[in-house]
Amino acid sequence: MTLQHRPRRLRAHKALREMVAETHIDPRQLILPVFVKEGIDSPQPISSLPGVWQHTLESMEKLVREAVSAGLGGVMIFGVPSVRDPEGSQCDNPASILHRAVSAAVEASAGQLVVIADLCLDEFTSHGHCGVLNEAGEVDNDRTLVRYQSMAVSLAKAGAHMMGLSGMMDGQVAAVRAGLDKAGHTDTALLAYAAKYASVFYGPFRDAVESTLDGDRKSYQQDPRNRKEARREIALDLDEGADVVMVKPALSYLDVISDAATMSDVPVAAYVVSGETAMIELAAREGIVERDAAIDETLTSVRRAGADIVCTYWALEYAMRHAHRGRNEKGARA
Ligand code: PBG
Repeated sequence: MTLQHRPRRLRAHKALREMVAETHIDPRQLILPVFVKEGIDSPQPISSLPGVWQHTLESMEKLVREAVSAGLGGVMIFGVPSVRDPEGSQCDNPASILHRAVSAAVEASAGQLVVIADLCLDEFTSHGHCGVLNEAGEVDNDRTLVRYQSMAVSLAKAGAHMMGLSGMMDGQVAAVRAGLDKAGHTDTALLAYAAKYASVFYGPFRDAVESTLDGDRKSYQQDPRNRKEARREIALDLDEGADVVMVKPALSYLDVISDAATMSDVPVAAYVVSGETAMIELAAREGIVERDAAIDETLTSVRRAGADIVCTYWALEYAMRHAHRGRNEKGARA
């Protein structure tokens, strides 16, 4: 045969494949989500999310030090408070579990990684919504923005380097930016959950934060059928001053990640969410897929789609497992 094109030539052996690989994941591009629960004295496993724990402050500090050693880019802190009320009144209390965890994480990280605080009311409200409600029981966008401003300033005072704006309220980026700037926190960065969908894949997360939500978030999170709408949301957050724009979930939304990468001149992040993680863990447990290879392929797909930064429960183990990348175990070409 006289074939003109033989793409297989570049796949013939491992060293060649390594040389031409287009996508790499550096630990610095990974963010580890961490749950810290009030009132427990030992870490508690989350049954629907294998490998992930509700931490005490002490076990979280240890985890943060491990994240530093593994070279991770950041940790994203979620608090699980024991007291909740309709107004989410603890959201800006410097003594809340979230604020204490943020301060402890900043201390434990010693400037070696980025500490991101979740900025949303859902862990603090008794109804579980991401904002406060009006008399009709609907999430009140603008009154919620005022709470977010106060929460942001309190978290900045607790030392957070970056805020993860996960509530999907209109105008949240501009409001939080203005609130922080007014209080002198002009250097606190904003990671905007710009395109966040009303997804079924958040199930295990809601166990992790012991969500009390009854109903759904479809009046503020996006409809999974919409792609153009994500471009609008991303454009708005860029315009409002987002420092990083995030797409969430990741796996069912690779097209949206790709759009974000094309549109954005700030870094794009994507969040491999709890349900996506649990699916792979359980499939692996059943022997249906090979666990580590499935994780690697999954995280690679998110980077390949265009995410600069990946938020994943596998961040630490991925970084540790690939710590010696470049050499295989036998030091030879495979
Ligand atoms: C809520 C929030 C959610 C997640 C992160 N922040 C859940 C939701 O919107 O219902 C989900 C993350 C995951 O599933 O891993 N502010």
